[in-house]
This record gives sequence, C-alpha cells and structure tokens, in this order.
Amino acid sequence: MRARGREVRKIGIMVSGRGTNMEALIQATRAPDYPARVALIIASREQAPALSRARQAGIEALYIPGRGSAWEQEALDLIEDRDLELICLAGFMRILSPKFIQEAPPIMNIHPSLLPAFPGLNAQQQALEYGVKISGCTVHFVEEGVDSGPIILQAGVPVKEGDGVEELSRRILQAEHQIYPRAVALWARDALEIEGRRVHIREEK
Ligand code: GAR
Repeated sequence: MRARGREVRKIGIMVSGRGTNMEALIQATRAPDYPARVALIIASREQAPALSRARQAGIEALYIPGRGSAWEQEALDLIEDRDLELICLAGFMRILSPKFIQEAPPIMNIHPSLLPAFPGLNAQQQALEYGVKISGCTVHFVEEGVDSGPIILQAGVPVKEGDGVEELSRRILQAEHQIYPRAVALWARDALEIEGRRVHIREEK
C-alpha cells in the first residue's frame, strides 16, 4: 500500500482502557494520504473498552493475559510477526521493561500534561492542585523512566476559572486527539530527527 508515493507504515497500539486516542489514530489513518495504518491493537486488560472499539473498526485487537516478562515477550512476538514499525501507547497503564524498550520498534506515548510537569497518574488533577494556568498534553518517544523521553509535540490547554478534573481532562483529551495523529504522521514521513533529548521536525520531504 502506498500514500503519496511512499510505503504506508504499519503501526501497533497498546491500550489498557477506554481507547479514545486509539480511535483518533484509527480515524486519522483512514485518510487517503495518511502515511501509516493501524495493523494491531494489544490490550493489557480483557475488559478494556478499547478492544471492542477496535474490533468494531475492523482492526485486529488482542488481549494478552498476565503481566511481566511473559506478557512482554508475547507482545514482542506479535509485533515481530505483524512487522510493526512503531508502537503507540494510548492509555497503556503499565511500565515497560528496559528489555522491551530495547527490543521493540520505536515507541511513542501520549501524556495529559506538559511534560516534564506532572508525570505519572492523575496528571490533570496534579496540574489543578499545583495551580498552573496552562496545562496540556505531550507526545514523546518512550525511554526507560515514567513519561520521560524526547518530546515530539505538545499542545497547551488553558486552565479556566472553575475547572474541575473532568472539564480540564475533556479539553486536554481533545488536544490529545489532534497531536497524536500528527506526531505519528511526522514519524511515518521520516520528518523526525532525534538529537539527544531534542526531536527536530524537518520540513516535509
Ligand atoms: C489519556 O488522557 C492519556 O493521555 C492518558 O490516559 C488517557 C487514556 O485515554 N495516559 C497517561 O496518563 C499515560 N501516563 P484513552 O484510553 O481514551 O485514550
């Protein structure tokens, strides 16, 4: 398959929950010009709503039971078997081992804050409690360490007077759905160049 004269890259998405970022990626990849397509969803929770959402969208979606190194090996075997070139974490709520990160293709993650502020769980609540006036979301490459790794794209979202976790999370999520497909498209078009901690975005070739 080709998009604008290029090979369409095959990506996988790993999820644990709801799957709205996964859906945004699947939607984006349906555009005729989009340079990647989603070939596999891997879930760490059998009840993850993302699994049924993916199947409804006609994408192969598998739950891997268990955890730890056996879980990771099974995921790596699937990734290799399906020739996936990029793994997107989309609400994947486990920490991956250094071995997985080394052996897998590049991995991206989306996080609901302007990293390095507020890593870990409940980022939106952390932002509200801290009292920041602007929060947002970050797409980054995954390295060892929680929500660290070179930053690809960020979007700022103003915190409004009277915002609770729900309202802020909803507005941040809308921004997440915009920047994740953009980051994946940049990667698929070979427009990203990592230099240390910095990710340079080259003009489209
Ligand atoms: C998203 O807000 C994502 O940024 C966050 O989990 C949510 C998943 O929603 N991820 C993290 O906090 C990672 N540290 P979704 O399942 O609807 O995409």
